[in-house]
Amino acid sequence: MLEGFDLEAFRQDLIQWFQAEQRILPWRENQDPYRVWVSEIMLQQTRVDTVIPYFQNFLEKFPTPEALAYAEEQDVLKAWEGLGYYSRARNLQTAVREVVEAYDGKVPDNEKELGSLKGVGPYTRGAILSIAYDVPSPAVDGNVMRVLSRILMIEEDIAKPATRKIFESLIRELISKEDPSSFNQGLMELGALVCTPKSPSCLLCPVRSHCRAFHEGKETELPIKSSKKKQKRLPYMTLVLRDQQGRYVVEKRPENGLLANLWQFPMVPIQQVDREKVPEWVKDHYGLDIELLNTVDHIKHTFSHVIWDLEVVTASASGELTASDARFASKEELEALPFPVSHQKVHKHL
Ligand code: ADE
Repeated sequence: MLEGFDLEAFRQDLIQWFQAEQRILPWRENQDPYRVWVSEIMLQQTRVDTVIPYFQNFLEKFPTPEALAYAEEQDVLKAWEGLGYYSRARNLQTAVREVVEAYDGKVPDNEKELGSLKGVGPYTRGAILSIAYDVPSPAVDGNVMRVLSRILMIEEDIAKPATRKIFESLIRELISKEDPSSFNQGLMELGALVCTPKSPSCLLCPVRSHCRAFHEGKETELPIKSSKKKQKRLPYMTLVLRDQQGRYVVEKRPENGLLANLWQFPMVPIQQVDREKVPEWVKDHYGLDIELLNTVDHIKHTFSHVIWDLEVVTASASGELTASDARFASKEELEALPFPVSHQKVHKHL
């Protein structure tokens, strides 16, 4: 796929452009591998503008691997509150604990050790190695696949997991051995600023002369990406259960799966439970006697695989709470607990 491609000129054009045009971003202040790591985890599935304030706050709270390793998981999740994909935070803490215990707090600088850490996949591994340690290792995410599929006219389906390996082996050849950091970040920056998904700014592109898709006028036809199946809708009645003292029932979610270990208001799956049977269901699950009051909101939240439809209903509660992961909490106590965004939106009804 690289026949007739001017590798050396491409590298030079990309790197020169990156060095002149790169955005000033907090994780580019230095090459501290821990900072690079945190930034790359946050930047997976989340936009740069959203990440910046979270990154700064996270590094103030947990400035070193040791600080993160010894922190309470609930405090780490609280610092991640609103970013989504919370397993990223849990895995990061697990991995940093291993770095502190097994590597004396020094982030590994080779593919084998780095790649065996929890949550460090081939993309994150390559990003840390190249950006923090100047090691020529590919860092292929969806943006890089979009950019490269256009430049080299690659028509593989980028939604297929196996496709990433094709791009990785191409980048092992393409990557600058002198400045792998600027090369990888240049591809990322190009994807963010110029070679965007819908209407790429080809006329501003520093590597346009190398781009086969531009040459053939096919830049908007690439990458090929099969569409994922659509998410299943799950309706829940979400209960704002208030007791006589004005405290609310909240519960910790299970330690695995969606939104693991985050807190929420009780959710009744109304696909399985008739509406008249909700009080009975709550009695069974929480030991409480309740009286439903008003529907105060409808909240829709889209995850990668499901959509939650939350009907928020106020209710009064009495009796003894028996569910082991649930507790009564005052409004002030709730502030310290990590909630997913959909349930943060319930707070205004307290
Ligand atoms: N997206 C993923 N990694 C990035 C980085 N280091 N800088 C900017 N955007 C990114």
